[in-house]
Amino acid sequence: MKISPKMKKALNDQTALEAGASNTYLAMASWSEITGYEGSAAFFYVQAEEERQHMLKFIHYLNDMGVSATIPGTKSPTSSFKSLETIIKTALNNERIVTNAIHKMVEIAQKEKDHSTYAFLEWFVNEQVEEERKFETILQKFDLIGRDKLAINEIDKILNGMSVTPDVAGTA
Ligand code: FEO
Repeated sequence: MKISPKMKKALNDQTALEAGASNTYLAMASWSEITGYEGSAAFFYVQAEEERQHMLKFIHYLNDMGVSATIPGTKSPTSSFKSLETIIKTALNNERIVTNAIHKMVEIAQKEKDHSTYAFLEWFVNEQVEEERKFETILQKFDLIGRDKLAINEIDKILNGMSVTPDVAGTA
């Protein structure tokens, strides 16, 4: 059972994308913390951890397939943001980029009849549906509750309620 060089590159690129996502969420968490949005900070620290778990899944999969994973270096993410709404919009946009990359890999797996990678990617396809939906739901709150200080405080509390620590074994 072997994966093609093309698939190997795509999986390694994805490892880097997940590492970048983790760092971006870390920057968002840190900004939220310093800005006084405690709920958002808790939420994004958990998101950062989730993305790290995603990165690990790709590393383990590559190694399981007998291909050494390339441990990615990442660019420093921006650390200044305009508002809570802006970071949620940016996060949704980033998730859409990840979804596209996952779907492209699924297409490569289908073309190459690479059933192992296809099965491995299925979890990520479902995960991305949830991730996008999560950020879309949060964004809707700004329209529903508002954008004044009280509304933002309310949304921050909602984010706190959504900050559930992921399964550290990377199985969730
Ligand atoms: Fe691992 Fe949220 O993409």
